[in-house]
Amino acid sequence: MYSWTDITGDEPHTVDAIRLRKALGSFPTGVCLVTTVGADGKREGMTINSFASVSLTPPLVLWSIRDDARSADVFISATNFIITVLTETQQELAMHFAKPAADKFERYEDVFENGLGGCPRLTSSVATFECTTYSRYQEGDHTILVGRIQEFSGSQANPLMFHAGQVGTVQEVAEKIAKQT
Ligand SMILES: Cc1cc2nc3c(=O)[nH]c(=O)nc-3n(C[C@H](O)[C@H](O)[C@H](O)COP(=O)(O)O)c2cc1C
Repeated sequence: MYSWTDITGDEPHTVDAIRLRKALGSFPTGVCLVTTVGADGKREGMTINSFASVSLTPPLVLWSIRDDARSADVFISATNFIITVLTETQQELAMHFAKPAADKFERYEDVFENGLGGCPRLTSSVATFECTTYSRYQEGDHTILVGRIQEFSGSQANPLMFHAGQVGTVQEVAEKIAKQT
């Protein structure tokens, strides 16, 4: 399993921030990759867990981006983005896309193809949602991006999980929770 601090190098600095992150992290989630392409053709991608479904009619989903993330301007102004629910075999990729880099796609060219509007689309996933940006809400230090699903697909693969600041398989997360009780 990989911890948030190892992946992002990002540590909360006050006692309240540590307690808040711990409380928020007690909600287990899947792990997603979101990708887009800038007006200049440069591809961007980041690991997220803020993905949520919003509406069936029209089909809407959301995620939120930290406004001081390196790629924030590109994602916030993007016309399209693709959200991929990652499989348990994609842990290394999740770690890689959780760290800033000039070109994150270079060493993963073989697992991406062209998706909606030229956004990079992973060739394997638990589920993939290709979206046009529907609305944006700047709240606190994040911007909520709502996407309208244009295309989607799903599979039977096992999802990667995030809980208590750690990324791992369903089994690893379940075993860790069982040890806590
Ligand atoms: C499991 C996990 C979930 C994350 N969720 C989010 C998220 O929902 N929103 C966000 O802005 N950053 C999130 N991050 C942090 C970003 O992946 C990280 O800041 C990344 O470096 C951003 O990409 P960039 O530096 O290319 O802009 C998450 C990281 C991990 C490991």
